[in-house]
Amino acid sequence: MEMELRRIREAAFRELELAQEVGALNEIRVRVLGKKGDLTAVLRGMGAMDATERPRIGQLVNDLRQEFEAALNERMALLKDAALTKRLEAERIDVTLPGRILERGRRHPLTMALDRIKAVFLQMGFDIEEGPEVESDYYNFEALNLPPDHPARDMQDSFYITEQFLLRTHTSPVQVRTMQAKPPNSPIRMIAPGKVYRRDYDATHSPMFQQVEGLVVGPDIRFSDLKGTLELFCQGIFGDSVKVRFRPSYFPFTEPSAEVDISCVICKGSGCRVCKGTGWLEILGSGMVHPRVLEMSNYDPSQVSGFAFGMGVERIAMLAFGIDDMRLFYENDVRFLRRF
Ligand code: PHE
Repeated sequence: MEMELRRIREAAFRELELAQEVGALNEIRVRVLGKKGDLTAVLRGMGAMDATERPRIGQLVNDLRQEFEAALNERMALLKDAALTKRLEAERIDVTLPGRILERGRRHPLTMALDRIKAVFLQMGFDIEEGPEVESDYYNFEALNLPPDHPARDMQDSFYITEQFLLRTHTSPVQVRTMQAKPPNSPIRMIAPGKVYRRDYDATHSPMFQQVEGLVVGPDIRFSDLKGTLELFCQGIFGDSVKVRFRPSYFPFTEPSAEVDISCVICKGSGCRVCKGTGWLEILGSGMVHPRVLEMSNYDPSQVSGFAFGMGVERIAMLAFGIDDMRLFYENDVRFLRRF
């Protein structure tokens, strides 16, 4: 019996030493220590043994059991450790590699231009109003003194949704909406930025573009207020040295009307390709609110007067940043967008 135990012992330890994997060790554990294992078989066979031998053999089996279990656990820990080291080596993380840089986004140049325009007017105490992009014929034309046969209503120039509704062709309907939302004759000092739509497409025209409307109404608002406000605005955007010129013009909803030019930002007025040799650039339309427009919105022209203006945000951004093709704003080419 002792011979048998010695044989089991030697075989078990040899296998233990040969085992290279955790899985193999588990198999050995079952084979030696398990219910149907070699040592259990010895214990089972003890019934046939001499009664005086039993305690001694039992003791030997138990000692071997403990010794082997300890050796097995030790080997197990060793193999697990080796396996982990191997895995870590394969998946090695190089902590000296430079980090991956997340590119920082930035505002779109049109948003930057609009924010600057807003900032200048907010400093002068203007509110910001909004109106819908799908607008009714009434607000877009009629209430602005554009009668049904006016050329600006030509189907060629506008995107109609139905006979009654169209994509607004300018932000001027927000003038009407703002007046009609207030008690008659209440003072107004607002700008209304937003998208507008026209059937145009070339280097300086896009079917969708942005405008900023302005409206100031109150007792005794004069043309000199219009001039002073728009001069301050131009200086706020293009710098104190910019020259501003008012040129007579025509809009059905203002009387008198004026187009505002600034001295060319490229050549400073001496004449170049951008200003077509004139030294001046047109940047907005303006005028004193037509008495009929006030009346149609329940404002009394004998009590209050006002001025209004409208500018294209793309045009201002092109001049402020020196961009010669409006379509660049909408193409989402990051090489262009990164420059701002
Ligand atoms: N709505 C005009 C346009 O789009 C601009 C304008 C606004 C002119 C307000 C005068 C007063 O061309």
